[in-house]
Amino acid sequence: MWLLWVALLHMLSSGICARSPRGWCEPGCDCRGELRFTVCSGALFTELPSRVSPTTELLDLSHNRISTIPKDALSRNRKLRVLLLQHNNISLVEDGCFSQLEFLQKLDLSWNHLRSLSEGFSLGLAFLRELQLSHNLLSSLDSRSFMHLDGLQRLNLTGNFIHVLHRRSFASMSSLRQLHLAGNLLTELKSGTFSMLRSLEVLNLERNHISETDVGVFKPLTSMTLLNLAHNHFTAAYFKTFLSIHTYSTHILLEGNPWNCDCDLQRVFRKLRSIQRLFLDDYYNLTCHEPPELRDYRLSQVDTELCIAETVTVLILSITVVITVLATMLMGERKRKRKKRSKHWTQQGQMSDESDY
Ligand SMILES: *[C@@H]1O[C@H](CO)[C@@H](O)[C@H](O)[C@H]1NC(C)=O
Ligand SMILES: *[C@@H]1O[C@H](CO)[C@@H](O)[C@H](O)[C@H]1NC(C)=O
Ligand SMILES: *[C@@H]1O[C@H](CO)[C@@H](O)[C@H](O)[C@H]1NC(C)=O
Repeated sequence: MWLLWVALLHMLSSGICARSPRGWCEPGCDCRGELRFTVCSGALFTELPSRVSPTTELLDLSHNRISTIPKDALSRNRKLRVLLLQHNNISLVEDGCFSQLEFLQKLDLSWNHLRSLSEGFSLGLAFLRELQLSHNLLSSLDSRSFMHLDGLQRLNLTGNFIHVLHRRSFASMSSLRQLHLAGNLLTELKSGTFSMLRSLEVLNLERNHISETDVGVFKPLTSMTLLNLAHNHFTAAYFKTFLSIHTYSTHILLEGNPWNCDCDLQRVFRKLRSIQRLFLDDYYNLTCHEPPELRDYRLSQVDTELCIAETVTVLILSITVVITVLATMLMGERKRKRKKRSKHWTQQGQMSDESDY
């Protein structure tokens, strides 16, 4: 109760507004902390409330039915640091609607119906540190949607329908530390995609359809400590792709991929596991998908046998070669002896001929 009084006194003394604080608190919202916190979660709003105090630093509008963020709707709320809009029906974010929010640090737009982000989406959000966009309907990322997010540290795009990343999608985000792209439809990773993400520590690509990566795609990620590639469509692993990760130490997750357990795979993993800076944390959980007779076996259980067939082939080949060589030598020797003997005989013959005289 006294908080309210303090708030009231503060408002009156600072003379920010002539209206009562109640006038700055939309019915359905809970306004606290000298109107710094406005919580309107689950208030059945279909649009942004108009009576939000300009002093509000945290505005929680989650679990409503808001469908549009109009351009000027938030222009008076310049003090906002946290804006929560998750679990709404938002399909349209008008260009520049956040451009006045120069102190905004966290924006949560997860669980909405956004299909694309326009070029002006990030306008003015240079101080944004965290952007939650999980569980929308995004299918590709415009190379300019994130253009102004110079200070962004965490970007969450989990659970969208993204099937392609452009070379410049993340180009301006040199401060980014975490990129979450789990649960999308990516099939390949092209080199250059992550080339500006020098500060990236966590790259989560779990649950996509990735089966191919360009060899150098992870190379620019010199701060990466965790690379999650679990539950994708990899059948083979390429040693050079992982060898090109030049970090102090990186944990790599690879389980849930349909590995084709052959001698090549065994060799690649043996080499990878010997690299000191790479940690294959879930190596003992990797299971084979191919060949059919090894399905669901753990790679770690069968890996010593995978090259046996090859070893046997090599052995047979070597033995054949040795036998051939030996045989050739023997035959040569025998021929030589035979020649010698026949010479001997002819000499003896000559001698006996001579003795006949
Ligand atoms: C969600 O927004 C669309 C328009 O974008 C509208 O047609 C639909 O009725 C809205 N749904 C709810 C539950 O408000
Ligand atoms: C990303 O979004 C997913 C789904 O909403 C959530 O479970 C996860 O905690 C988020 N991760 C981060 C690091 O924000
Ligand atoms: C391996 O799989 C088990 C069972 O699914 C799980 O509990 C464990 O955390 C996994 N280990 C790693 C390192 O992912």
